[in-house]
Amino acid sequence: MEYKNGKKPNNGDWAVEANGLVKVFGDNKAVDGVNLNVKAGSIYGVLGPNGAGKTTTIRMLATLLRPDAGSARIFGHDVQKESQIVRQLIGVTGQYASVDESLSATENLIIFSRLLGLGRAEARKKAADLLEEFGLTEAAKRPLKNFSGGMRRRLDLAASLIAQPPLIFLDEPTTGLDPRTRAQMWDTIRRLVSTGSTVLLTTQYLDEADQLADRIAVIDRGHVVAEGTVDELKQSVGTSSLQLRVLDPSDIEMARQTVEHVLGVQATLSSEAAKITAPMANADLVTDLLIALREKGITLSEVSVQKPTLDEVFLTITGHGVEEKAKETGTETKRAEAVNV
Ligand SMILES: Nc1ncnc2c1ncn2[C@@H]1O[C@H](COP(=O)(O)OP(=O)(O)O)[C@@H](O)[C@H]1O
Ligand SMILES: [Mg+2]
Repeated sequence: MEYKNGKKPNNGDWAVEANGLVKVFGDNKAVDGVNLNVKAGSIYGVLGPNGAGKTTTIRMLATLLRPDAGSARIFGHDVQKESQIVRQLIGVTGQYASVDESLSATENLIIFSRLLGLGRAEARKKAADLLEEFGLTEAAKRPLKNFSGGMRRRLDLAASLIAQPPLIFLDEPTTGLDPRTRAQMWDTIRRLVSTGSTVLLTTQYLDEADQLADRIAVIDRGHVVAEGTVDELKQSVGTSSLQLRVLDPSDIEMARQTVEHVLGVQATLSSEAAKITAPMANADLVTDLLIALREKGITLSEVSVQKPTLDEVFLTITGHGVEEKAKETGTETKRAEAVNV
């Protein structure tokens, strides 16, 4: 593999090997023994709700935060003992503002390019090309302080493309972006990998991990609770999620048994009135289920089949939903905290 900045990792197989990483803030174990192994040349997704410990994990891997226990290697280099080497092998973008607010997008990219040793003309061309690719040409002259969150995120990623380090950490690269910009980000991320980089990204969205990642770790309260390929994870969750509500609450137990029998999965009774949720590998089975329920004389007040949400992934894997405290905390607030620490 050739890298644009000329740096070569010395461990061809593993971009990341993290072993028992722990980070404690006061009495909060933010990261509680995380193991991660990321193959070089792949896209690895760390999936989890707000507060799960994703950013803290990335900060330790990126040498920005010292682990309280455990160890991690980046392309074979220890993040603590060889932090200088590690820093040359990685790029971190996403929840980190890395650019000067008062300068324009073009100026920022030119500065980055010059710092990386590009000549004046080359830097100018690089900046223009990247701005074009990220749909920022019209905003090129505006100072960054007038940029929206989505524009900033795109510029941040563009800046990381100048050097294109062997390993790129993307911390929630598409949170809060509109669908078009999101799709554009996905393309760029795929391109990074097809041109030789390894990407470790965090996300709160199952579909994003699904679209991009070769392997996924699901992280909850500082623990990796599931790990595998997208297909393996899906098998445990189902490709869609069935939600039923029975008209007569006294039917709920029989309805649950019927769901479990016909779908061959475990159904969850919601604390919400008379509601059943079940993972479904095959959406077509819903026809059989509805017939079976009708034959038992169970009347439904509501049926829906949806893609599994992160809540359901969690419910299936951990036996509990995404915590209320995580739900109440807005992503923007969390991001601001993450930047300030
Ligand atoms: N610098 C810090 N000081 C104290 N607590 C922190 C700090 N950074 C993160 N936390 C806490 O650690 C937990 C994990 O946070 P974080 O890694 O940001 O999660 P995520 O990125 O998955 O949303 C949360 O409970 C968060 O409030
Ligand atoms: Mg985070």
